Amino acid sequence: MKIHALIGALLLVATGCGDNQEPEAAVAFWNQLQTDDYRSNFARAPGWPGREPSKAIHADFVEIYINDVVVDALDAGEPITAWPDGSLIVKDGYDGDEELNVVAAMEKRDGAWFWAEWFDLESGEAKYSGSPRLCTDCHSDGDDFVTSFSFPAAQ
Ligand code: HEC
Repeated sequence: MKIHALIGALLLVATGCGDNQEPEAAVAFWNQLQTDDYRSNFARAPGWPGREPSKAIHADFVEIYINDVVVDALDAGEPITAWPDGSLIVKDGYDGDEELNVVAAMEKRDGAWFWAEWFDLESGEAKYSGSPRLCTDCHSDGDDFVTSFSFPAAQ
């Protein structure tokens, strides 16, 4: 048992300390994003019309896409205190060489965000998924964890 725990700890270090809590759900989420074809079909987040410099560690430049549920919540203009179920936000991250190198996404499911971040853009195997503290700690400043734009009430 002990040796397995040790090997597990070493593997975690070797793989870069990711926190892939729900690997299968993350692959399904990745496949859903490809089917959604969000780069063609989703709107841009308010204040993020194109490829903009990131304020975070995600990448040098980012593009942020929002689905219809988020668009409708913003358009309604009603004060809201939480983004509705089905809200989906995707962020593509580009480094200086203009290559897409990371995709991060969050989807509201049953009242809680499901988070995922992928560096392997072929298989959809995530580095982070579920509710990793890395994501939630940094995003806790936002309106219901969304940092790049605000609730209608706060605009
Ligand atoms: C160091 C702080 C930090 C960490 C850690 C972080 N984010 Fe972000 N995230 C931001 C900021 C700031 C933005 C606003 C856009 C930008 O500047 O890149 C953002 C934007 C996003 C967006 C677009 C929606 C929004 O909230 O603005 C998604 C999706 C996202 N992050 C997912 C993730 C995921 C998934 C993780 C964990 C793997 C994560 N983030 C970890 C700071 C962080």
